[in-house]
Amino acid sequence: MKKIAVLVSGGGTNLQALIDAQGSVLNSGRIALVVANNANAYALERAKKAGIATAVVLKKECGSQKAFEEKLKEVLAEHEIDLIVLAGFMTILTESFTSAYPKRILNVHPSLIPSFCGEGFYGLRVHEEALRYGVKVTGATVHFVNEIPDGGEIIAQKAVYIEEGDTPEILQRRVMEQAEWLLLPMAAEKVCASM
Ligand code: GAR
Repeated sequence: MKKIAVLVSGGGTNLQALIDAQGSVLNSGRIALVVANNANAYALERAKKAGIATAVVLKKECGSQKAFEEKLKEVLAEHEIDLIVLAGFMTILTESFTSAYPKRILNVHPSLIPSFCGEGFYGLRVHEEALRYGVKVTGATVHFVNEIPDGGEIIAQKAVYIEEGDTPEILQRRVMEQAEWLLLPMAAEKVCASM
């Protein structure tokens, strides 16, 4: 069993999908730790309800990006983590962090990369931009994380149709239900099984 850490910033519905997949889709790894960069993240409640250890690492308390990343590394090492999953983790990690875990960090992004991705494209913004552009198909991507924002090797993608009358919120929900919540546990299993 590989030990997985899930890094979160907000609601944590993708964390919930991973928790719910344990023992069914997710068999080769288990979630050993949830780390938030925001003390109020509802994802922390989800972790506690599932009996998973939690940690909060705040950038402003660390003082710099470098110190923040060093603190994250320390917490991950304490728990002997094998795989890091970014599930709505709304901060960019620099090369000093990503290079310590080659092909050991996954991220879920709510579009079909290389569309609507990179710096500044996160959360609802991604769906606002997809609707503004007028694409008829969007989706979600799970990829390895390297030093290029949303630029690592793609592991899995799933397309989702845009419908008449979609708002960013409606589209976000459909992309989660039809793509992210299915894709992320499957990708985590695939990577754990191959480690
Ligand atoms: C998800 O849609 C995820 O793909 C997105 O934020 C949301 C988090 O929701 N991530 C990004 O935009 C990363 N660039 P959640 O907290 O309910 O899982």
